[in-house]
Amino acid sequence: MKLTLLGAAGGIGQTLALLLKLRLPVGTELALYDISPVTPGVAVDISHIATSVKAIGYAGEENLAAALKDAHMVLVTAGVARKPGMTRADLFNINGNIIKNLIEKVADVCPNACIGIVSNPVNTLVPLAAEVLRKKGVYDKRKLFGVSTLDVVRAKSFVSELKEKHAETVKVPVIGGHSGPTILPLLSQALSEGRKIDFTQEEIESLTHRIQNAGTEVVEAKAGGGSATLSMAEAGARFAVAVFKALLGEDCVRYAYVESKKDSGYPEFFAHPVRFGLTGVEELLPIGHLSEYEQEKLKALEEVLEADIKLGKDFVNA
Ligand SMILES: NC(=O)c1ccc[n+]([C@@H]2O[C@H](COP(=O)([O-])OP(=O)(O)OC[C@H]3O[C@@H](n4cnc5c(N)ncnc54)[C@H](O)[C@@H]3O)[C@@H](O)[C@H]2O)c1
Repeated sequence: MKLTLLGAAGGIGQTLALLLKLRLPVGTELALYDISPVTPGVAVDISHIATSVKAIGYAGEENLAAALKDAHMVLVTAGVARKPGMTRADLFNINGNIIKNLIEKVADVCPNACIGIVSNPVNTLVPLAAEVLRKKGVYDKRKLFGVSTLDVVRAKSFVSELKEKHAETVKVPVIGGHSGPTILPLLSQALSEGRKIDFTQEEIESLTHRIQNAGTEVVEAKAGGGSATLSMAEAGARFAVAVFKALLGEDCVRYAYVESKKDSGYPEFFAHPVRFGLTGVEELLPIGHLSEYEQEKLKALEEVLEADIKLGKDFVNA
Protein backbone atom coordinates (compact mmCIF):
# COMPACT_ATOMS: atom_id res chain seq x y z
CA MET A 1 0.00 0.00 0.00
CA LYS A 2 1.19 3.49 -0.81
CA LEU A 3 0.33 6.94 0.56
CA THR A 4 1.46 10.09 -1.26
CA LEU A 5 1.71 13.42 0.55
CA LEU A 6 1.61 16.51 -1.69
CA GLY A 7 3.09 19.60 -0.02
CA ALA A 8 5.40 17.47 2.12
CA ALA A 9 8.09 20.12 2.65
CA GLY A 10 5.72 22.62 4.30
CA GLY A 11 4.96 23.38 7.93
CA ILE A 12 2.19 20.78 8.10
CA GLY A 13 3.78 18.51 5.50
CA GLN A 14 7.06 17.84 7.31
CA THR A 15 5.48 17.09 10.68
CA LEU A 16 2.76 15.01 9.04
CA ALA A 17 5.42 13.06 7.15
CA LEU A 18 7.17 12.33 10.45
CA LEU A 19 3.96 11.14 12.13
CA LEU A 20 3.02 9.00 9.12
CA LYS A 21 6.49 7.40 9.16
CA LEU A 22 5.84 6.49 12.80
CA ARG A 23 2.23 5.34 12.51
CA LEU A 24 1.38 3.92 9.08
CA PRO A 25 1.08 0.12 8.89
CA VAL A 26 4.24 -1.92 8.45
CA GLY A 27 5.33 -2.15 4.82
CA THR A 28 3.60 1.05 3.63
CA GLU A 29 5.38 3.19 1.03
CA LEU A 30 5.26 6.89 1.92
CA ALA A 31 5.90 9.17 -1.08
CA LEU A 32 6.72 12.78 -0.20
CA TYR A 33 6.22 15.36 -2.95
CA ASP A 34 6.67 19.13 -3.02
CA ILE A 35 7.92 21.75 -5.45
CA SER A 36 10.56 22.61 -2.83
CA PRO A 37 14.02 21.10 -3.49
CA VAL A 38 14.29 20.23 0.21
CA THR A 39 11.79 17.36 -0.18
CA PRO A 40 14.20 14.49 -0.95
CA GLY A 41 16.12 15.61 2.15
CA VAL A 42 12.98 15.42 4.31
CA ALA A 43 12.50 11.84 3.08
CA VAL A 44 16.16 10.92 3.75
CA ASP A 45 15.90 12.49 7.22
CA ILE A 46 12.81 10.52 8.30
CA SER A 47 14.04 7.36 6.55
CA HIS A 48 16.66 7.11 9.33
CA ILE A 49 13.86 6.50 11.86
CA ALA A 50 13.71 2.76 12.39
CA THR A 51 10.16 1.84 11.30
CA SER A 52 9.02 -0.40 8.45
CA VAL A 53 7.51 2.47 6.47
CA LYS A 54 9.59 3.33 3.42
CA ALA A 55 9.84 7.10 2.73
CA ILE A 56 10.84 8.37 -0.70
CA GLY A 57 11.11 12.05 -1.65
CA TYR A 58 10.21 13.69 -4.97
CA ALA A 59 10.83 17.37 -5.79
CA GLY A 60 9.61 19.35 -8.78
CA GLU A 61 6.71 18.94 -11.17
CA GLU A 62 8.61 16.55 -13.43
CA ASN A 63 8.56 14.03 -10.55
CA LEU A 64 4.89 14.38 -9.58
CA ALA A 65 3.70 11.42 -11.67
CA ALA A 66 6.32 9.12 -10.12
CA ALA A 67 5.26 10.24 -6.64
CA LEU A 68 1.60 9.44 -7.41
CA LYS A 69 2.13 6.16 -9.28
CA ASP A 70 0.18 3.30 -7.61
CA ALA A 71 -0.92 5.48 -4.65
CA HIS A 72 -3.92 4.21 -2.65
CA MET A 73 -4.29 7.46 -0.74
CA VAL A 74 -3.22 11.03 -1.54
CA LEU A 75 -3.10 13.74 1.12
CA VAL A 76 -2.89 17.34 -0.04
CA THR A 77 -1.24 19.96 2.20
CA ALA A 78 0.22 21.97 -0.70
CA GLY A 79 -0.42 25.68 -1.06
CA VAL A 80 -0.05 28.80 1.00
CA ALA A 81 -1.13 29.28 4.61
CA ARG A 82 -2.94 32.25 6.15
CA LYS A 83 -1.18 35.35 7.43
CA PRO A 84 -2.84 37.75 9.93
CA GLY A 85 -5.74 39.63 8.34
CA MET A 86 -6.32 36.96 5.67
CA THR A 87 -9.43 34.80 5.62
CA ARG A 88 -9.41 31.26 4.26
CA ALA A 89 -11.27 32.65 1.25
CA ASP A 90 -8.30 34.96 0.52
CA LEU A 91 -6.23 31.83 0.03
CA PHE A 92 -8.49 30.55 -2.69
CA ASN A 93 -7.06 32.54 -5.57
CA ILE A 94 -3.62 31.05 -4.97
CA ASN A 95 -4.52 27.60 -3.72
CA GLY A 96 -7.32 27.07 -6.27
CA ASN A 97 -4.84 26.78 -9.13
CA ILE A 98 -2.39 24.68 -7.16
CA ILE A 99 -5.03 22.14 -6.14
CA LYS A 100 -6.59 22.06 -9.63
CA ASN A 101 -3.24 21.15 -11.20
CA LEU A 102 -2.42 18.55 -8.56
CA ILE A 103 -5.83 16.85 -8.74
CA GLU A 104 -5.66 16.74 -12.54
CA LYS A 105 -2.46 14.75 -12.18
CA VAL A 106 -4.03 12.48 -9.54
CA ALA A 107 -6.91 11.81 -11.97
CA ASP A 108 -4.44 10.84 -14.70
CA VAL A 109 -2.01 8.76 -12.64
CA CYS A 110 -3.93 7.17 -9.73
CA PRO A 111 -7.65 7.73 -10.44
CA ASN A 112 -8.74 5.15 -7.84
CA ALA A 113 -6.86 6.70 -4.93
CA CYS A 114 -8.69 8.21 -1.94
CA ILE A 115 -7.93 11.94 -1.71
CA GLY A 116 -7.85 13.90 1.55
CA ILE A 117 -7.67 17.68 1.20
CA VAL A 118 -6.08 19.59 4.07
CA SER A 119 -5.24 22.78 2.12
CA ASN A 120 -7.55 25.73 2.68
CA PRO A 121 -10.17 26.81 1.99
CA VAL A 122 -11.40 23.23 2.42
CA ASN A 123 -15.04 24.34 1.89
CA THR A 124 -14.18 25.38 -1.67
CA LEU A 125 -11.23 23.18 -2.63
CA VAL A 126 -13.12 19.90 -2.10
CA PRO A 127 -15.94 20.85 -4.54
CA LEU A 128 -13.24 22.17 -6.89
CA ALA A 129 -11.43 18.81 -6.72
CA ALA A 130 -14.73 16.94 -7.28
CA GLU A 131 -15.34 18.99 -10.40
CA VAL A 132 -11.81 18.37 -11.73
CA LEU A 133 -12.25 14.62 -11.19
CA ARG A 134 -15.74 14.70 -12.76
CA LYS A 135 -14.36 16.42 -15.87
CA LYS A 136 -11.75 13.68 -16.11
CA GLY A 137 -14.54 11.07 -15.76
CA VAL A 138 -13.13 9.54 -12.57
CA TYR A 139 -15.10 11.22 -9.74
CA ASP A 140 -16.18 8.80 -7.02
CA LYS A 141 -17.78 10.56 -4.03
CA ARG A 142 -16.59 7.77 -1.73
CA LYS A 143 -12.98 8.71 -2.40
CA LEU A 144 -12.82 12.44 -1.82
CA PHE A 145 -12.90 14.17 1.56
CA GLY A 146 -11.88 17.41 3.23
CA VAL A 147 -9.93 16.95 6.44
CA SER A 148 -11.94 18.76 9.12
CA THR A 149 -10.50 16.71 12.01
CA LEU A 150 -8.77 19.72 13.57
CA ASP A 151 -12.16 21.25 14.38
CA VAL A 152 -13.11 18.11 16.31
CA VAL A 153 -9.75 18.03 18.10
CA ARG A 154 -10.03 21.71 19.06
CA ALA A 155 -13.60 21.28 20.31
CA LYS A 156 -12.45 18.37 22.46
CA SER A 157 -9.53 20.39 23.87
CA PHE A 158 -11.50 23.56 24.62
CA VAL A 159 -14.40 21.68 26.25
CA SER A 160 -12.09 19.56 28.39
CA GLU A 161 -10.14 22.68 29.43
CA LEU A 162 -13.31 24.56 30.43
CA LYS A 163 -14.95 21.62 32.20
CA GLU A 164 -11.73 20.24 33.73
CA LYS A 165 -12.12 16.82 32.12
CA HIS A 166 -9.44 14.57 30.67
CA ALA A 167 -9.37 15.43 26.95
CA GLU A 168 -9.15 11.73 26.05
CA THR A 169 -12.60 11.10 27.57
CA VAL A 170 -14.39 13.98 25.81
CA LYS A 171 -16.34 13.72 22.56
CA VAL A 172 -17.78 16.69 20.67
CA PRO A 173 -19.32 16.31 17.19
CA VAL A 174 -18.45 19.10 14.73
CA ILE A 175 -20.42 19.36 11.50
CA GLY A 176 -20.84 21.84 8.62
CA GLY A 177 -17.80 23.28 6.91
CA HIS A 178 -14.26 24.29 7.85
CA SER A 179 -14.21 28.09 8.17
CA GLY A 180 -15.58 30.56 10.72
CA PRO A 181 -19.36 30.37 11.00
CA THR A 182 -19.61 27.23 8.85
CA ILE A 183 -17.94 25.24 11.66
CA LEU A 184 -20.77 23.99 13.87
CA PRO A 185 -19.83 22.22 17.12
CA LEU A 186 -22.77 20.26 18.55
CA LEU A 187 -22.22 20.97 22.22
CA SER A 188 -25.69 19.61 23.02
CA GLN A 189 -24.25 16.18 22.12
CA ALA A 190 -20.92 16.58 23.97
CA LEU A 191 -20.00 13.62 26.17
CA SER A 192 -17.39 12.84 28.80
CA GLU A 193 -16.91 9.14 29.59
CA GLY A 194 -20.21 8.55 27.81
CA ARG A 195 -22.11 11.03 30.01
CA LYS A 196 -23.70 14.24 28.71
CA ILE A 197 -21.83 17.47 29.55
CA ASP A 198 -24.03 20.37 30.66
CA PHE A 199 -23.26 23.93 29.57
CA THR A 200 -24.79 27.31 30.37
CA GLN A 201 -25.97 29.34 27.36
CA GLU A 202 -23.04 31.70 27.94
CA GLU A 203 -20.59 28.79 27.82
CA ILE A 204 -22.20 27.47 24.63
CA GLU A 205 -21.88 30.81 22.90
CA SER A 206 -18.29 31.47 23.95
CA LEU A 207 -17.14 27.89 23.16
CA THR A 208 -18.86 27.96 19.77
CA HIS A 209 -17.17 31.26 18.97
CA ARG A 210 -13.77 29.97 20.11
CA ILE A 211 -14.01 26.74 18.10
CA GLN A 212 -15.11 28.63 14.99
CA ASN A 213 -12.22 31.08 15.29
CA ALA A 214 -9.51 28.77 16.64
CA GLY A 215 -7.55 28.90 13.38
CA THR A 216 -7.35 32.69 13.65
CA GLU A 217 -6.20 32.34 17.29
CA VAL A 218 -3.13 30.46 15.99
CA VAL A 219 -2.57 32.78 13.00
CA GLU A 220 -2.51 35.80 15.32
CA ALA A 221 -0.35 34.10 17.95
CA LYS A 222 2.21 33.16 15.27
CA ALA A 223 2.28 36.86 14.26
CA GLY A 224 2.90 36.41 10.54
CA GLY A 225 4.66 33.04 10.83
CA GLY A 226 1.79 31.04 9.34
CA SER A 227 -1.21 29.09 10.58
CA ALA A 228 -1.68 25.88 12.59
CA THR A 229 0.91 23.29 11.57
CA LEU A 230 1.69 21.04 14.54
CA SER A 231 -1.88 20.48 15.76
CA MET A 232 -2.99 20.09 12.13
CA ALA A 233 -0.29 17.53 11.43
CA GLU A 234 -1.31 15.51 14.49
CA ALA A 235 -5.02 15.73 13.61
CA GLY A 236 -4.25 14.90 9.96
CA ALA A 237 -2.09 11.92 10.90
CA ARG A 238 -4.78 10.48 13.18
CA PHE A 239 -7.38 10.86 10.46
CA ALA A 240 -5.20 9.58 7.60
CA VAL A 241 -3.88 6.54 9.45
CA ALA A 242 -7.41 5.51 10.51
CA VAL A 243 -8.77 5.90 6.97
CA PHE A 244 -5.72 4.17 5.46
CA LYS A 245 -6.31 1.20 7.80
CA ALA A 246 -10.00 1.24 6.81
CA LEU A 247 -8.88 0.71 3.20
CA LEU A 248 -7.16 -2.42 4.52
CA GLY A 249 -10.32 -3.67 6.27
CA GLU A 250 -10.36 -1.99 9.73
CA ASP A 251 -13.57 0.12 9.65
CA CYS A 252 -13.48 3.48 11.43
CA VAL A 253 -15.80 6.43 12.06
CA ARG A 254 -14.44 9.96 11.69
CA TYR A 255 -15.85 13.40 10.92
CA ALA A 256 -14.98 14.58 7.39
CA TYR A 257 -16.20 17.10 4.81
CA VAL A 258 -17.71 14.95 2.07
CA GLU A 259 -20.43 14.98 -0.57
CA SER A 260 -23.73 14.71 1.31
CA LYS A 261 -26.69 12.54 0.32
CA LYS A 262 -29.01 13.93 -2.33
CA ASP A 263 -32.21 15.35 -0.76
CA SER A 264 -30.66 15.27 2.72
CA GLY A 265 -31.38 18.99 3.07
CA TYR A 266 -27.71 19.74 3.78
CA PRO A 267 -25.48 21.65 1.36
CA GLU A 268 -23.91 19.45 -1.34
CA PHE A 269 -20.67 19.16 0.67
CA PHE A 270 -20.91 18.96 4.44
CA ALA A 271 -18.87 17.61 7.37
CA HIS A 272 -20.64 14.48 8.65
CA PRO A 273 -19.76 11.56 10.85
CA VAL A 274 -18.56 9.07 8.26
CA ARG A 275 -17.95 5.31 8.39
CA PHE A 276 -14.86 4.56 6.31
CA GLY A 277 -14.19 1.10 4.92
CA LEU A 278 -12.52 -0.75 2.05
CA THR A 279 -13.71 1.69 -0.63
CA GLY A 280 -13.38 4.94 1.31
CA VAL A 281 -16.63 6.58 2.49
CA GLU A 282 -18.98 3.63 3.15
CA GLU A 283 -21.77 5.39 5.01
CA LEU A 284 -22.81 8.84 6.20
CA LEU A 285 -24.04 8.41 9.75
CA PRO A 286 -26.92 10.39 11.27
CA ILE A 287 -26.08 13.76 12.76
CA GLY A 288 -28.53 13.38 15.63
CA HIS A 289 -30.74 15.89 17.41
CA LEU A 290 -29.75 19.58 17.29
CA SER A 291 -30.66 22.11 19.99
CA GLU A 292 -32.61 25.21 18.97
CA TYR A 293 -29.37 27.26 19.07
CA GLU A 294 -27.61 24.75 16.81
CA GLN A 295 -30.54 24.67 14.39
CA GLU A 296 -30.34 28.46 14.06
CA LYS A 297 -26.58 28.29 13.47
CA LEU A 298 -27.13 25.56 10.89
CA LYS A 299 -29.60 27.70 8.99
CA ALA A 300 -27.17 30.63 9.02
CA LEU A 301 -24.20 28.59 7.79
CA GLU A 302 -25.96 26.96 4.85
CA GLU A 303 -25.92 30.06 2.69
CA VAL A 304 -22.22 30.72 3.35
CA LEU A 305 -21.28 27.11 2.66
CA GLU A 306 -23.32 26.96 -0.52
CA ALA A 307 -21.53 30.08 -1.82
CA ASP A 308 -18.15 28.50 -0.95
CA ILE A 309 -19.12 25.33 -2.83
CA LYS A 310 -20.30 27.28 -5.88
CA LEU A 311 -17.02 29.20 -5.98
CA GLY A 312 -15.06 25.96 -6.26
CA LYS A 313 -17.28 24.49 -8.97
CA ASP A 314 -17.33 27.72 -10.99
CA PHE A 315 -13.54 27.94 -10.83
CA VAL A 316 -13.27 24.71 -12.81
CA ASN A 317 -16.20 25.30 -15.13
CA ALA A 318 -15.47 28.94 -16.01
N1 LIG B 1 -7.64 21.63 7.13
C1 LIG B 1 -7.15 22.28 8.17
O1 LIG B 1 -7.67 22.16 9.29
C2 LIG B 1 -5.94 23.17 8.04
C3 LIG B 1 -5.30 23.66 9.18
C4 LIG B 1 -4.19 24.46 9.03
C5 LIG B 1 -3.72 24.80 7.76
N2 LIG B 1 -4.38 24.33 6.67
C6 LIG B 1 -3.93 24.65 5.30
O2 LIG B 1 -2.93 23.72 4.89
C7 LIG B 1 -2.12 24.31 3.86
C8 LIG B 1 -0.64 24.12 4.17
O3 LIG B 1 -0.28 24.85 5.32
P1 LIG B 1 1.23 24.95 5.79
O4 LIG B 1 1.25 25.73 7.06
O5 LIG B 1 1.89 23.62 5.75
O6 LIG B 1 1.86 25.88 4.63
P2 LIG B 1 3.38 25.99 4.16
O7 LIG B 1 3.49 27.22 3.35
O8 LIG B 1 4.29 25.81 5.32
O9 LIG B 1 3.56 24.69 3.23
C9 LIG B 1 2.95 24.57 2.00
C10 LIG B 1 3.83 23.72 1.11
O10 LIG B 1 3.17 23.58 -0.14
C11 LIG B 1 4.18 23.58 -1.13
N3 LIG B 1 3.62 23.87 -2.45
C12 LIG B 1 3.22 25.05 -2.97
N4 LIG B 1 2.80 24.87 -4.23
C13 LIG B 1 2.90 23.54 -4.50
C14 LIG B 1 2.61 22.74 -5.63
N5 LIG B 1 2.14 23.26 -6.74
N6 LIG B 1 2.85 21.42 -5.54
C15 LIG B 1 3.34 20.87 -4.40
N7 LIG B 1 3.64 21.58 -3.31
C16 LIG B 1 3.43 22.91 -3.36
C17 LIG B 1 5.19 24.63 -0.66
O11 LIG B 1 6.44 24.45 -1.31
C18 LIG B 1 5.21 24.33 0.83
O12 LIG B 1 6.22 23.39 1.15
C19 LIG B 1 -2.55 25.79 3.81
O13 LIG B 1 -3.44 25.97 2.73
C20 LIG B 1 -3.27 25.99 5.12
O14 LIG B 1 -4.21 27.04 5.05
C21 LIG B 1 -5.46 23.51 6.78
